[in-house]
Amino acid sequence: MKHDKLAIDGGVPAVTRPVPPMYPGGMRIGPEEEQAVLDVLRSKRLFRYYGPGDSPSRVEMLEKAFAAHLGVRRCVAVSSGTAALMGGLAGLGVGPGDEVIVPAYTWIATASAVVALGAVPILAEVDESLTLDPADVERKITPRTRAIAAVHMRGGPCRMDALLSLARRHDLHLIEDTAQANGGSYGGRKLGSLGDVGAFSLQFNKIITSGEGGLITTDDETIWKRALMYHDVIGGDRNGIPEEEILPGINLRMSELHGAVALVQLGKLDRIVGDMRRNKALLKASMDDLARRKGIRFRDEPDPEGDAGICLVFFVPAAERAQHIAAALKAEGLPASVIYSGRRDYHVYCDWAPILRQRSWAGGAPWAWHPPIEYSRDMCPRTLDLLQRAVHLDISPDLTDVHLEEMADGMAKVLSALL
Ligand SMILES: Cc1ncc(COP(=O)(O)O)c(C=O)c1O
Repeated sequence: MKHDKLAIDGGVPAVTRPVPPMYPGGMRIGPEEEQAVLDVLRSKRLFRYYGPGDSPSRVEMLEKAFAAHLGVRRCVAVSSGTAALMGGLAGLGVGPGDEVIVPAYTWIATASAVVALGAVPILAEVDESLTLDPADVERKITPRTRAIAAVHMRGGPCRMDALLSLARRHDLHLIEDTAQANGGSYGGRKLGSLGDVGAFSLQFNKIITSGEGGLITTDDETIWKRALMYHDVIGGDRNGIPEEEILPGINLRMSELHGAVALVQLGKLDRIVGDMRRNKALLKASMDDLARRKGIRFRDEPDPEGDAGICLVFFVPAAERAQHIAAALKAEGLPASVIYSGRRDYHVYCDWAPILRQRSWAGGAPWAWHPPIEYSRDMCPRTLDLLQRAVHLDISPDLTDVHLEEMADGMAKVLSALL
């Protein structure tokens, strides 16, 4: 080891140059995205359905390209990942009186979308994969359960075999929230193509981005038509749906400018995911020996080959130790954190105050239409325990070999001293 004294104790940091910020697609925006936006502006066709000339709709091109990339028949582009979840749930027919099982660890949007549809989110524990624990999902199923929201958190696929089999046995729908795992797969199939419907986000933190944006994916014509009607006030009419079948929609459409950027980013997705996977594999391999000696437990990977590679997570025995290790890694210059440090974080159910307190826009909906249920900050203790002991490292696709070597050094330094 070059420098044995930990940087947190005044030693020299192992990483000598800043690591790239964790905006995988965002950091790769280049002349191609600039040109795509310019082309749209010059065409003056900024709206998906029409413009002054006969240039093609970038949003429509994006939908076709994304469906082909995923291996599904249909895709609807929308204004955000939350809109994609809402459109997906509307596509499934989820509504008042229904329950949807959501993981206790996900961005609050997953639960908010359920509430927005008038249904009640039911929280289930995550396991060492940091995705839904199928055994807890099964315990949470009631006669009102309509769907399971499988969230592929931090790039990692859910235990899809178990969740799909549960859904089948109990006649439930499965929506895949793939906001954080675009480009990942399970059993060789792209995430977002295994359940009844997939929901993606193109917000700026995501693997590919147009700043804001979302995508709904499905093989099912009925779900697709319902999503088309939901995402556009006259989506039914615009898409040739017979008048007597048209349902009232809202406007969650994507703009052509966003479509143009997303289309270029889609072309970069495989490369970005490939680079993150490579970087993650190198860093993990550099920890092999140490991990064995120290008994380090990495996050479970239901399909290691399908992981999108955006992070490396390991659990340490106690929350306090996790905080200290993350602080020491940070001092060495590594992009480390504890997943739940106790500071308010809307990825963790106990900080979802509007949901836990069942605050309603009007009339107590959706909970007033449902037999009383209770949420509490400690209702998913296993999730809290895991997240508080989980040390998380960002894996940018743009890490250089020098970064990776220095990060491995920093890791070895800190873990040898503190574990
Ligand atoms: C797991 C998850 N679901 C849903 C969303 C919502 O996406 P958006 O911010 O685009 O609405 C996000 C990201 O923000 C997310 O991380």
